Amino acid sequence: MHLDGGRRRGFFLTLEGPEGSGKSTQARRLAATLTAAGRRCVVTREPGGTALGEAVRQILLHSVELSPVPAADALLFNAARAQLVAEVIEPALWRGEVVICDRFADSTLAYQGYGAGQPLEALRSLQQLAVGDLTPDLTVLIDVPVEEGLARKDGGETTRFEERVEVAFHRRVREGFLALAAADPARFVVVDGLHTLDLVEAAVLRAAEPRLAAWDELRAVESRRGTTVPSALVSEPDRGSLRMKR
Ligand code: TMP
Repeated sequence: MHLDGGRRRGFFLTLEGPEGSGKSTQARRLAATLTAAGRRCVVTREPGGTALGEAVRQILLHSVELSPVPAADALLFNAARAQLVAEVIEPALWRGEVVICDRFADSTLAYQGYGAGQPLEALRSLQQLAVGDLTPDLTVLIDVPVEEGLARKDGGETTRFEERVEVAFHRRVREGFLALAAADPARFVVVDGLHTLDLVEAAVLRAAEPRLAAWDELRAVESRRGTTVPSALVSEPDRGSLRMKR
């Protein structure tokens, strides 16, 4: 739980997984359920979610002719991420909302790190520059075997990574995600993406609900103690200086 000394009030949930894991569908379903339960949710995605991010997404996923090298990929994904955090994620967290993000920094570690061989330490430094210490409160990894994921067509866009990259790359990505989850069991929950959409949805909800309840409890305690500052009372310069401190 990351309340930044009682000031950051939102809950940050990320969905990760290899190709075809169904995380975009699950992000929408989870948001619908939480919204119906009275929570304010923001759903966003990486790369994308801002005008800059969507422009970078076009370059990253569809401009095959530009042939970005893995280091360029890592920089571009992080450029989109920095913008998304500043424009969308942090403001929503300040407002006390639940942010559901379809992919986040773990994807860069899995794809550009484990998949494409960029050093993890260098990638973590880029991440620090892009997002500071912002860490998801919960990351749900929807795991599917590579062949199954690549074979699934959900009618969505086909990306450069699906089209151009060999299966061995995607195996390394999947193993990378599983290694990241094993290294941080407090943050990650791994869900078997081979089940039906409904069963996966239920599993995602089972992962989220106790953590959201714990977060509600923490916020209630903080507000009784008077340590939570209503976002309306935090001026923009104040928010900016807090961001720089991270
Ligand atoms: P998706 O959002 O439809 O899954 O497409 C995003 C693609 O970009 C997917 O192939 C994974 C890849 N990707 C990376 O390689 N690194 C990253 O940091 C992110 C966010 C995505």
